[in-house]
Amino acid sequence: MLTANKKFLLNAYQKGYGIAQININNLEWAKIVLTTANELKSPIILGVSEKAADYMGGFKTVFNMVKSLDEFYKISVPVLLHLDHGSFEGVKQALEADFNSIMFSASGYSFEQNLTKTKEIINLCRQKNVLLEAEIGGIGKEEDDFNFQGDFSDPKQCHLMSLLDIDMLAVSIGNMHGEYSSNWNGLNFKVLEKINKITNKKPLVLHGGTGIPDEMIKKSISLGIAKINVNTACQLAFAKATREHIFYNKDFNDRGFELSKLFKPGFLAIKNIIKKKIRLFGSVNKI
Ligand code: G3H
Ligand code: ZN
Repeated sequence: MLTANKKFLLNAYQKGYGIAQININNLEWAKIVLTTANELKSPIILGVSEKAADYMGGFKTVFNMVKSLDEFYKISVPVLLHLDHGSFEGVKQALEADFNSIMFSASGYSFEQNLTKTKEIINLCRQKNVLLEAEIGGIGKEEDDFNFQGDFSDPKQCHLMSLLDIDMLAVSIGNMHGEYSSNWNGLNFKVLEKINKITNKKPLVLHGGTGIPDEMIKKSISLGIAKINVNTACQLAFAKATREHIFYNKDFNDRGFELSKLFKPGFLAIKNIIKKKIRLFGSVNKI
């Protein structure tokens, strides 16, 4: 059920588990995320980047699609429809389209500008009862040659940000988007611990959930991470399963050319990833 009630995030933070944000790219994606979370009785966050929203026909199309699926499948777990890595303009568009949660990704600005712009966005969010994820520190990217080159979050800046009326805070502690290499240095738990101590019990967010080893995920949850974002893992699983399916079923017997059949293995692969992540994060039966 779409609901902007932040209680489930606070519960996760206080009781030591994490909520998955799974990014979506089309109708089947949204459907498999919603129905899998519902099966596991886990709260869930559907992440939508601006690029993905464009691909799906704009924010309003995404909102209408998710709302309809939510109703059609009688989803009873709490659901956030969340703008992922929003620009200032993207935030306004997502708010207009009735998203109930947004991330304002402002680490590219100076800290002062980040604070100022985040304050403006807080006002917009409060008028519409929308949850807000702020960000301190740039998150590394796969393109960084597999070595973290983001900016570690500055705990003092995190503290100042946490004094604002934000609902969650994304931190940069060595996490990267995409796949990680074997020479990756891992997460910096000292920085995370410091941040968690001085951010007024705000739920913290970990981006780049695809390749972080399970033990590091668990430790980060014990140190205040209450939302973990996963995107690339689903895309890779979908692409691999679809490619294999088409390769081994070239003849398309039994009307295998129908879209629902072509896509089936890919979405089952995504379902497996979602189940694995939700179980790892510990949010099964937490509604
Ligand atoms: O904002 C989205 C995420 O941080 C996803 O990261 O693609 O590495 O799973 P990922
Ligand atoms: Zn991210």
